[in-house]
Amino acid sequence: MSDKRVLLIVGGGIAAYKCLELVRLLRKSGIAVRCILTKGGEAFVTPLSLAALSEDRVYQELFSLTDEAEMGHIQLSRSADLVVVAPATADLMARAANGLANDLATTALLATDKPVLMAPAMNVRMWNHPATQRNIATLAGDGISFVGPDEGAMACGEFGPGRMAEPAAIFVAIMERFTQEPVLDLPLKGRRALVTAGPTVEPIDPVRLITNRSSGKQGFAIAQALSALGAEVTLVAGPVALPTPPGVHRIDVETAIQMQAACQAALPTDVAICVAAVADWRPAEEGALKIKKGPDGPPAINLIENPDILAGLAAQGPNRPKLVIGFAAETNDVEAHARAKLTKKGCDWVIANDVTQPGVMGGEANTVLLVTHEGTERWDKAPKSDVAKLIANRIAKALT
Ligand code: C5P
Repeated sequence: MSDKRVLLIVGGGIAAYKCLELVRLLRKSGIAVRCILTKGGEAFVTPLSLAALSEDRVYQELFSLTDEAEMGHIQLSRSADLVVVAPATADLMARAANGLANDLATTALLATDKPVLMAPAMNVRMWNHPATQRNIATLAGDGISFVGPDEGAMACGEFGPGRMAEPAAIFVAIMERFTQEPVLDLPLKGRRALVTAGPTVEPIDPVRLITNRSSGKQGFAIAQALSALGAEVTLVAGPVALPTPPGVHRIDVETAIQMQAACQAALPTDVAICVAAVADWRPAEEGALKIKKGPDGPPAINLIENPDILAGLAAQGPNRPKLVIGFAAETNDVEAHARAKLTKKGCDWVIANDVTQPGVMGGEANTVLLVTHEGTERWDKAPKSDVAKLIANRIAKALT
């Protein structure tokens, strides 16, 4: 990559600080980086930091005698193989979409004959605004490509899409443009994963339901960890109040029947991980009207068995994922019950946890056993996000 050059335009958003890491990653790979820092960008990072990391001078002014004498703005716009805008703010994208050239950044974007990659970053409402979406469509129509934005907590305190893609993801997007092929350094790149999470709810009548206790945290963390390793993840989620992990395709369901249908529709996948606490039974009939209290006392609810989604996925057939993983929440004899489940359900691994341990149900930490046909491993107590990363790494190892 030592012959490649990036012109990095740093816009004015809090995400500008992430550019320093991006410059470092690019330089580490031998890619030359030249930076244009906008007035807004300068409020967040200093020209000195960018110059030190890029090992080049930083360009800021359109009509600067020194800049123009050293390198005219037209020449600057063409001095790289790829122009990257990160963060691409709503304002910068609006100006670029309309062909304005009222500062060095927009002039370079208008004058360049090189491909342009933008990493948008802004508040979620600004991102969702029709004006921004119009501008993005215009820029995409002009041949500009995008990386991100991610969905998640933002510096402004709101939540949703708008957070700039992580430097590593922007770096991968840049490398893909240079090599014209997917970068294979993410171990689950090109792999498909299915994750179920959260509870299911089974209606008794329009206002009452049967459900299980499940926060969905462990399943969502696993979906996020698999996505971070490059997998294409479908997350089938029962009703939980959790944000969708970045890059994950989420399907919301309520009942076990709906969850099963969504899982079958997501096949084929390389791996399926059933973390959901599926209700074992559902009322045989859902009353169309609310059941009223009456002289006969409480109603009898006739229950029928729900389909076992995990066992269905693990059943032999052309669509069986290579690796099918179940979870087991147990209160006693954890390993023995987990091992029995491995055989009964036909899956490859069972990840078991003792739900009598304080903080497992609904909490942030988990202590798990990994039970496979080869043996049992006991993992130390760790945050659910760390357990998820360990599981994702083990899956990556098993699939390669
Ligand atoms: O049988 P038990 O509910 O203990 O099994 C737990 C495992 O089976 C979990 O992985 C859970 O997601 C899955 N399961 C399922 N469908 C059901 C019941 C459990 O996928 N109806």
